[in-house]
Amino acid sequence: MPIGGRWVPASGGGTITVANPATEAPLAQVPAATIEDGLAALDAACRAQEAWAATPARERADILDRTYHSIRNRRDEFAALITAEMGKPLTEAQAEVDYGAGFFRWFAESANRSHIDGQYGVEPGGQYRFAVSKRPVGPSLLITPWNFPLAMGARKIAPALAAGCTTILKPAEATPLTSLLLAKVMEEAGLPAGVLNVITTNNSRGVIAAVMADPRLRKISFTGSTQVGSALLAQAAPNVLNTSMELGGNAPLIVFDDADLDQAVDGAMVAKLRNGGQSCVGANRIYVQDGIAAEFTRRFTKRMATTRVGDGTDPATELGPLIDSKQVATVSALVQDALAKGATCLTGGTTPNRPGSFYPATVLTNIPDNADIRTEEIFGPVAAIYTFTTEDEVIAEANNTPYGLASYVFTQNLAKGLRVADAIDAGMTGINRGVVSNPAAPFGGTKQSGLSREGGTEGLHAYQETKYTGIQL
Ligand code: SIN
Repeated sequence: MPIGGRWVPASGGGTITVANPATEAPLAQVPAATIEDGLAALDAACRAQEAWAATPARERADILDRTYHSIRNRRDEFAALITAEMGKPLTEAQAEVDYGAGFFRWFAESANRSHIDGQYGVEPGGQYRFAVSKRPVGPSLLITPWNFPLAMGARKIAPALAAGCTTILKPAEATPLTSLLLAKVMEEAGLPAGVLNVITTNNSRGVIAAVMADPRLRKISFTGSTQVGSALLAQAAPNVLNTSMELGGNAPLIVFDDADLDQAVDGAMVAKLRNGGQSCVGANRIYVQDGIAAEFTRRFTKRMATTRVGDGTDPATELGPLIDSKQVATVSALVQDALAKGATCLTGGTTPNRPGSFYPATVLTNIPDNADIRTEEIFGPVAAIYTFTTEDEVIAEANNTPYGLASYVFTQNLAKGLRVADAIDAGMTGINRGVVSNPAAPFGGTKQSGLSREGGTEGLHAYQETKYTGIQL
C-alpha cells in the first residue's frame, strides 16, 4: 500500500485475502494495515500538506486531468478488477469506470477555478474592505464502501486534491484492489509523495479511531451506513473535525397513472437493479398509482423474472453476485420476514443452491405494515411494490422515513413532477429517470442520510475553508 510515496507491507506483516464474490476464489493478498500504519499515513499526509496546498491550482488540475485520461485508457483493466473483486457485471463496471473517471475531469476543471472563488469589496457601512477567499481544509481521511470501488474513492479524492488537501484513503476491506490500482495510476500521473496514501486494513475501527484522535487530521469523509456514520460523527466531535457523511437511504420511486409506462418500467429496473440493488440510492419502495398498478407490476415483474443472473465476467449477465454470503443472508431474511407476515412473491425469493453469493431478482407485493422491508434499506435485488391513490397520500408515505437521500417520480405532467420533487424531503430527485448520479451534480442527503454534498461545486467546497480578512486602508 502506498504511504508517503513508498509501497509498503503492513508493519505487522499481516495480510488480507481478497476474494471474488462470484466464485469465492481468492484473488489477491493485500497488507493488513495496523494502527501504526494508519498513523504513518497521517504523518505522510501532514508532511505533504503545505507543499500540496502551495502547488499552483493549474498543476494540481493537470495531475487530475492526466488521471482522468489514464483511467479512460485503462478502462478494461479497471472494469475487470471491479468485476473481479466486487461482482457487478462487466458492462456496469465499465459504466462505473466512466463515472469514476468523470470526477477527475470535473474536479480538474474545478481546480482551475478554485482560487478565483472569492470576493473583494467594501463592507456595508463603508468603513473598510472585505476579502473572502478559499483555502484547503487540510489532511483528510476518506473512507469508502465496497459497492463502487472506483467511483466512491474518485468522488472524494478528486475534490480533496483539487482543493489542496492531502489524503488518507481507507477502502473497504472487501474491495481494496481498485483503490491500489488508482493510487498507482495517480503516481504515474505525477502525484507527489504523501498526497494520496492508501491503507488497506481489517482493523478499520482501530485504525480509523487512532487517525481521528490525532488533532492533525482536519477532515473525515465517509460513505456507508447511517449507524457507522453516526458513530464516526461522535468520534469527530472531540477534535471538531470537518465532516462529510454520505449515509443510508430508503428511496421511494413513485409512478403516477399518467407516467409513460415504458419509461417508468425502464427507470424502475435501473433504479432497482443497478449494482444488484446494492446502492444507497437504489429504489427501496416502489409506489404505483391504482390506475396503472396492475399493468406496471405485470411488465416490471416480467423484466425482473427474465434478468440473467451469473458471473459478472459473462457478457450475458445482467445481475451479478452480492458482495458476500452475509449480504445474501440479510436480503433473504428481509424477504422471508415479509412472506411470513403475508406478502406475495411474484418472482424470485429463494437463494439459489450454487457457489457464490447470488440472489435472484425478486418482486414482492401486498407487503403488510409490520414487515421489516418497509423500513429497512434492502441493499439487494428485491423490489417492494406498494399502491397508492392520491398525491398527498404518496408524498406522506415517501417522507415517512428517517432517511432522505434519493427519490424518483414518474409522470408526464412536469408541473406535478416538480411539485412532488419539492415536497419530498430528500437530497436528490429524478423525474422520469432512474439514475441521477453525475460528477457535476451535488450528491447527498437530508435527515439521517447524511451531511454535506459530493460532486458538483458543493463537492469542492466540502474540502475548503472560507477565510475572511477585514482590511482598513
Ligand atoms: C452509493 O450507492 O453509495 C453511490 C451511488 C452513486 O453514486 O450513484
